[in-house]
Amino acid sequence: MKALILAGGKGTRLRPITYTSSKQLVPVANKPILFYGLEAVRDAGITDVGIVVGDTADEIKKAVGDGSKLGIKVTYVHQKAPLGLAHAVKVARDFIKNDPFVMYLGDNLLKHGVGSFVSDFTKGGYDAQILLAQVSNPSEFGVAELDGERVIALEEKPKHPKSNYALVGVYLFTDKIFEAIENIKPSGRGELEITDAIQYLIDRDFVVNSTIVEGWWKDTGKLEDILDANHIILRELTTVLASTPDAETEVHGQVELARNVTVERSVLRGPCIIGEGARIVDSYIGPFTAIGPNTEIVGSEVENSIILEDCRIINIGSRIGSSLMGRNVTVRRSEKPPKSYSFMVGDNSDIVVT
Ligand code: DAU
Repeated sequence: MKALILAGGKGTRLRPITYTSSKQLVPVANKPILFYGLEAVRDAGITDVGIVVGDTADEIKKAVGDGSKLGIKVTYVHQKAPLGLAHAVKVARDFIKNDPFVMYLGDNLLKHGVGSFVSDFTKGGYDAQILLAQVSNPSEFGVAELDGERVIALEEKPKHPKSNYALVGVYLFTDKIFEAIENIKPSGRGELEITDAIQYLIDRDFVVNSTIVEGWWKDTGKLEDILDANHIILRELTTVLASTPDAETEVHGQVELARNVTVERSVLRGPCIIGEGARIVDSYIGPFTAIGPNTEIVGSEVENSIILEDCRIINIGSRIGSSLMGRNVTVRRSEKPPKSYSFMVGDNSDIVVT
């Protein structure tokens, strides 16, 4: 069994963060989203892992390397443009050969990993297996129409969904999927859709099994989904203090401090995680917050947010909440008049002031 992790694509919904960085490398609880997927396939016993990469290939290669640190062997598969999930599978044919494989969308997170799905698939002898979850906004996903437990039709992001069962971004395939992909045409949005390829299998009476996902599942394509994922993962944090806050700091709840973190005269209310080399002075770090490495927070309050590495938040009067801040961002109070907001902000930023 092999794994194919999809980490190409554009990440348009997370701009401006994704102008300079791959969406799969945005950290959730200080770990890039992609690593949750890599660990999930490894924990399912799969070590031969292909990663489909596009424009952000260099950055992904730098972060993952040959996979040995994670206990897997990584082969990179280049996709020249994000021409669809089925296209990504097609270009990975030389890597997959005729082996069965799990395809995992690099921006998805599943609480219970993929081990049980992989073993069901192996035991069941199916031609393909899809995972489904009930959602309140099915139009934003691939949607399955079911007859009892049987999948009778799949539709990609339908305007009028026939059910609220969304396709989760984890699929199990045999080499039959390559025949299906050879026989489908690009959709209206110009992509080779994996939903169309699976529909091809269903229409020809191949056995496509479906399983409902227990526990949470997140597609982290949008800001609110990333903050939700951060929330869900931090909920399970346990306290690990690799640095010691000063005597005037109060620590409540589950808090993880990496090495070389300075915390002075502050309140840390977990669950929150603070990365290596960060500096927190005269500040409040509230629940569900992840502070990246080497970030400095002075005289400020932050909660329910993800602040990436090398940021500076200095003497901000009101509390920062529900925010995602990219790398090397400075937010500071002006020391002299005029009392105006002063921004240097990239394209597609979103700033809310009170
Ligand atoms: O998250 C579940 C949903 O994922 C499913 O319900 C949909 O049926 C499925 O099409 C997919 O929809 P998204 O709109 O979320 O797909 P997205 O374009 O975000 O791509 C998913 C991942 O695959 C992401 O990590 C980028 C990568 N990708 C995407 C395309 C289109 C590639 O590597 N190559 C590609 O050509």
